[in-house]
Amino acid sequence: MKEKTIDEILLKNILYSIDEGIHVIDNHGKTIIYNDAMAQLEGLEKEVVLNKKFTDVFPGLDEENSTLFTVMKTGRPILERTQTYLNYKGKKITTVNTTIPLFDKGKKIGAVEIAKDITKMQKLSEKLMDLQEELTNKNKESLKTTVPKYTFDSIIGNSDGIKKAINIARKSCNTSSSVLIYGETGVGKELFAQSIHYEGIRKNKPFIAQNCAALPESLLEGLLFGTAKGSFTGAIDRPGLFEQANGGTLLLDEINSMGINLQAKLLRVLQEGYIRKIGGLKNKPVDVRIIATTNEDPKKAIEDGQFRKDLYYRINVVSLVVPPLRDRKSDLELLCDSFIRKYNKKLKKDVWMISQDVIADFYDYSWPGNVRELESMIEGAMNYINYDENVLQKYHFPIFIDELREKDYNISKDIDLSESLPVVISNIEKKLIANAMMSWGNNVSKAAESLGIKRQTLQHKLRKYNL
Ligand SMILES: Nc1ncnc2c1ncn2[C@@H]1O[C@H](COP(=O)(O)OP(=O)(O)OP(=O)(O)O)[C@@H](O)[C@H]1O
Ligand SMILES: [Mg+2]
Repeated sequence: MKEKTIDEILLKNILYSIDEGIHVIDNHGKTIIYNDAMAQLEGLEKEVVLNKKFTDVFPGLDEENSTLFTVMKTGRPILERTQTYLNYKGKKITTVNTTIPLFDKGKKIGAVEIAKDITKMQKLSEKLMDLQEELTNKNKESLKTTVPKYTFDSIIGNSDGIKKAINIARKSCNTSSSVLIYGETGVGKELFAQSIHYEGIRKNKPFIAQNCAALPESLLEGLLFGTAKGSFTGAIDRPGLFEQANGGTLLLDEINSMGINLQAKLLRVLQEGYIRKIGGLKNKPVDVRIIATTNEDPKKAIEDGQFRKDLYYRINVVSLVVPPLRDRKSDLELLCDSFIRKYNKKLKKDVWMISQDVIADFYDYSWPGNVRELESMIEGAMNYINYDENVLQKYHFPIFIDELREKDYNISKDIDLSESLPVVISNIEKKLIANAMMSWGNNVSKAAESLGIKRQTLQHKLRKYNL
């Protein structure tokens, strides 16, 4: 018997140990190599295939459905073709195949097929796509059922800050210009976005909201622009949110959390006015009004490299700033009244008012969670109050307001106690004054009163501490 060369031994070992399936046929269509990986993929025994004419083993195959067949005939390679089929054990398999003709001195001597099993990857990506579709459908459902949830009437407040924001928002109703809403969490950005849509010229068209922080970039891209049939990520044609919102408004919440690459793609769509699905070839024109929100100062987000400057300029056509509740404490009572009415109805209670000492504590608090926090607090107290009580008192608030104040005013926090006594005392004084000024919306008289010092003394200290 002829001794095997090192090349032959190496080749055999490689062929039978790698994960890729290898199938080689000779010039007559007879299988000369069929490795274990290929046998496993196709669900066949090696012996059934080896040394047989492959058209006898796979009688259903022809040029239409066999890449080996095609390559033998044309002499041209087929690279990286994705195939999904049921193998001989009835198992659904997805492979990426590369099939190349083999030549020796210009003469065709056979063909080799290399198949990579991507079934697991395919399943995973299908799962992701399903998830995506679920989200889209949820959006669709809410689309059908969304009778305007919020309009300008829902925005309670009489402070200058809120009045200014409402004024700008109302003016933008008659246009389709992009809007950027900036405000801390819970200030009412969603309220503004919906009001602009439902009181604007697009009110009879869809309003779709998507949070940009909730999904990884690649998924968000598919969700926004859609995916085309046959694209690697999934077999089904899926419309994106842009397509679904066509004619209407798309709210992109927390735009500053969107990946920087996707921001570039979004900018292109907004500039060119058409979308192209992932894996798709055709451009489709879309007409969508963009309202974006950010809870971080956009200028800072740009500085930090989180928000593309060019996208910012494209979106910040109408610029809306919703001030935090601590800067518009004059809205507190109106908001409390409105939430009391709301929860009277919901919880079947009969509350008429909130006591003045609770209101005073509310004035002292800095409301990091803004209106959302206030609403939850009132809802909590309205759960607590008895059916025969009519005034919300301190003891109805399960998290006692004093406690909140303590948390808020934890002045020893951030103060370096290892400094000399005069320095520590100055730092504490500075912090207390800064807190009082913030709580009273920079009203010097009120802040001085709450600190128990004269107005002039406070003014002197404000200058001293450069506040
Ligand atoms: N001016 C307001 N009048 C009445 N309710 C308000 C007002 N502002 C906010 N709310 C209520 O507070 C809650 C939070 O508002 P919204 O969801 O609009 O905040 P947001 O700014 O979008 O917050 P986030 O940044 O966390 O998404 C909602 O329940 C909303 O009804
Ligand atoms: Mg929001």
